[in-house]
Amino acid sequence: MLIDGHGRAVNYLRISVTERCNFRCQYCMPEKPFSWVPKENLLSFEELFLFVKVAIDGGVTKIRITGGEPLLREDLDSFIKMINDYKSGLDLALTTNAYLLPQAAQKLKDAGLKRLNISLDSLKEDVSAKIAGKNVLKEVLAGIDKALEVGLKVKINMVPLKGVNDDEILDVLDYCKGKDIKVRFIEYMENAHADQALKGMHGKEILEKVKERYTIKALGREGASPSFNYVLDDGTEFGLIDPHKHDFCENCNRIRLTAEGNLIPCLYFDEALSIAEAVKKGDVEGAAQVLAEVLKDKPKENRWSEDEFEDRELSKRAFYETGG
Ligand code: GTP
Ligand code: 5AD
Ligand code: SF4
Repeated sequence: MLIDGHGRAVNYLRISVTERCNFRCQYCMPEKPFSWVPKENLLSFEELFLFVKVAIDGGVTKIRITGGEPLLREDLDSFIKMINDYKSGLDLALTTNAYLLPQAAQKLKDAGLKRLNISLDSLKEDVSAKIAGKNVLKEVLAGIDKALEVGLKVKINMVPLKGVNDDEILDVLDYCKGKDIKVRFIEYMENAHADQALKGMHGKEILEKVKERYTIKALGREGASPSFNYVLDDGTEFGLIDPHKHDFCENCNRIRLTAEGNLIPCLYFDEALSIAEAVKKGDVEGAAQVLAEVLKDKPKENRWSEDEFEDRELSKRAFYETGG
């Protein structure tokens, strides 16, 4: 088992396979970054896989592929198959904006992928275009349907923003209820790369909106998941991801690997150590050592939870680099 410096068991690895994205979400990458990571700095699937094996052998049981937009990386299904063939029974998932899912869903399922988390911030064409920077709604909804059709489990992520999509919380909840899928409302996490004019909704405000139509009961956190779950009277469950809350990081079980090999202990902070040199040499022990160091220095908690302090720095980490 992998244990961090605060005694937390780490069994969840998130791997960003590309920072590139076909959307320009206001809260993540409103404009194309000044420069992309050069292609030659990207780790190959074989190099990433060497680290995946180290992580699985150490005790990782849950792996999520993220981006940028992971479906932009060619032959992604071959990487998923490599992981699934190495160890079956893993919780093997992917987070996507769904735009390319109509073509990709069947291949992903055949490769061994179990679950998908999909961003759906609005059900209105103009609002989703405003958030994502292009007209995306039709493809996203088709992608969700295709994923369900091929038998992948689906969850929806929505980031409610004041004056943008805060009037659609109930609509997105009802859409998910109708398809029997779970939605998680995510507090907007302020960061230096986002549109600085955005104002997120606090978890409490999101719950107030839901209560305008439904009676809700708290279920609690599901293991080490970042989501705190609630249930409606008819049994429909939804979640709230509330990193501004003080106890959010208590059970944190995850680390993140970027496409160029930076191993990141916490989404908020800039600190990271690189596994690139080790995996390029096929040095399994070297990679395991970097992992041990990252775990030792994993921060106790993020600083979004300090939003009442004026001296709090803005997180410099780009979500398109870490995959959220
Ligand atoms: P499940 O396995 O389905 O519970 O997925 P997940 O919530 O781990 O993954 P997903 O990619 O859907 O992430 C949902 C949101 O939770 C994203 O906005 C993430 O940035 C956020 N999130 C996940 N882990 C952390 C974390 O450690 N810290 C913070 N602050 N946010 C996180
Ligand atoms: N705050 C909250 N959630 C974010 N995501 C991306 N950027 C942010 C942010 N600044 C979410 C996306 C996606 C998930 C991986 O991360 O909505 O669902
Ligand atoms: Fe792309 Fe996801 Fe960032 Fe949107 S949130 S720009 S879909 S990486």
